[in-house]
Amino acid sequence: MKKITIAIDGHSSTGKSTLAKQLAKALNYIYVDTGAMYRAVTLYAIQQNFISETYFYTDKLIESLNQIYLSFKFNDDLGFAEIYLNDENVDDKIRSIEVSNFVSKIAAVSEIRTKLVQQQKKYGIDKGVVMDGRDIGTVVFPDAELKIFMTASAEIRAQRRFLEMQEKNMNVSFDEVLKNVVERDKIDSTRKDSPLIVAENAVVIDNSNLTREEQFNMILDLAQKTINIV
Ligand code: DC
Repeated sequence: MKKITIAIDGHSSTGKSTLAKQLAKALNYIYVDTGAMYRAVTLYAIQQNFISETYFYTDKLIESLNQIYLSFKFNDDLGFAEIYLNDENVDDKIRSIEVSNFVSKIAAVSEIRTKLVQQQKKYGIDKGVVMDGRDIGTVVFPDAELKIFMTASAEIRAQRRFLEMQEKNMNVSFDEVLKNVVERDKIDSTRKDSPLIVAENAVVIDNSNLTREEQFNMILDLAQKTINIV
């Protein structure tokens, strides 16, 4: 059976990673969460005091880039790979509202993007990969056989993220989450380097009114049809 590359891009909190994980499992493909990579660099910048509400020492972070080593290790219990920053599992820490508030600024720095994109391209060398992010269909894998662009209304996305955070007992208000979702969309879509846009040939899915199952079945069907014709 031929393997393909599946690129999933879209707005924040549209369930890209949930869908990507489901697809990877069903197809026995590797799943790579590129947002987690930008988040891990953000966590590093916060830990080193390179970024706060009032400053961002971009040059210092760029100088330290060769000290940042990111890797993924598969967790059998969870059924997906978790991200490690310099060999420490940071998969939970990178989902905090603090990291979410700074990550778009970090992701707008070209030197950081170049480093992470290089690593991401390596994961796709043998195909059989589902990767989600903001520039996967445009920059990382412009030749991906299947490209999906996911969107939904900001309120629905914030509501989903808010419930998820509440389940994890994270202390955050709905308004804070909504503000973060809107702010990130704006920065991600207007930055100079690799802005979030719909890639050529991407299938656009607005999942405001779709259940996870409906969405999964639709895209799995699309993936299988694509695999059959390559
Ligand atoms: O998917 P996420 O919400 O975990 O991504 C976190 C941030 O990282 C997002 O606001 C934009 C940035 N990002 C990016 O610029 N390019 C990617 N390929 C993935 C994420």
